[in-house]
Amino acid sequence: MTSVLNYEPLVLEPRKTAPALTAIQEEILALKRERNAVILAHNYQIEAIQQVADYVGDSLGLSYQAQAAQADVILFCGVHFMAETAKIVNPGRTVLLPDLEAGCSLSDSCPAERLAAYKAANPDVYVVAYINCSAAVKALSDVIVTSGNAMKIVGKVPADREILFVPDQNLGQWVSSKTGRQMRLWPGSCYAHVQFTTSAIEKIRAQFPDAPVVAHPECTQAVRDLADEVCSTELMVKFAKETPADRIIVVTESGMLHRLRKDVPHKTFIAGPTDTCACNDCRFMKMNTIEKVRDALKNMAPQIDLPEDIRTKALAPIQRMLDWSR
Ligand code: 13P
Ligand code: SF4
Repeated sequence: MTSVLNYEPLVLEPRKTAPALTAIQEEILALKRERNAVILAHNYQIEAIQQVADYVGDSLGLSYQAQAAQADVILFCGVHFMAETAKIVNPGRTVLLPDLEAGCSLSDSCPAERLAAYKAANPDVYVVAYINCSAAVKALSDVIVTSGNAMKIVGKVPADREILFVPDQNLGQWVSSKTGRQMRLWPGSCYAHVQFTTSAIEKIRAQFPDAPVVAHPECTQAVRDLADEVCSTELMVKFAKETPADRIIVVTESGMLHRLRKDVPHKTFIAGPTDTCACNDCRFMKMNTIEKVRDALKNMAPQIDLPEDIRTKALAPIQRMLDWSR
């Protein structure tokens, strides 16, 4: 018999109206007009930030939005590699990140020097890099993928090339199993997504037997195998709209629940639990606060800057991805 969670699950029920904007959110909207800024936010940001953003989405959607942005300033509410990607594709704009310390454990698991050494020892590998990596790693890669387009992009890599997939072994394993393409996997992972366990997911499922489970591919294979659907955060919105179920268990970072509640307002969303907590926050994503968003626009800092040689080398594999995934 499946045992039960020893804490209350986090359940977001449908609600009639979203919270009214606060004074600080109104201040941000005024500053945004004054600075001619656009606010791009990842699905994992807190609700108050998502509410003032011009666009909320996954890494792929955010890359397209950043490239197309016409505003003088891009205020990027996400983590460092995402803001860096915005600067790489749109160098003429000022790119702000509310907290420069907002990094990513996955990105950190593949330092550029180690990848350069690997390539020196294995010069024929074709490097497919998940977008969760630094500009210096992108500059060493052949093509970039996101969780939203990885299968499609890997399908376009010449069949006679051996692929090294960096830095997420879980996403790499998922893509490999879906495409049948053998790949060498870099041993990196997302510290947050690997906290989801089969035992916690089995318990929540027993509590909500009618609710399908949707999981992010950064979860371990054992957790992915329990899910009804595995997809990027943006595709979770599509899944939630299309499934006949009224309640859905969402196995990814908890900010996603706000986006789902906004876009699919008549359904209920249950946070995927870990062994110790009803939901799972990424500590890096949560470094951005509403005060820091306001201060970034006020002070026009912190800004993202990149050496031009790294930027142009990193742009080539990103551009290949954007072209291949249209
Ligand atoms: P998505 O591109 O699916 O939003 O994923 C980004 C991310 O960092 C997941 O941890
Ligand atoms: Fe990185 Fe994981 Fe946080 Fe995504 S959730 S930004 S992969 S640490």
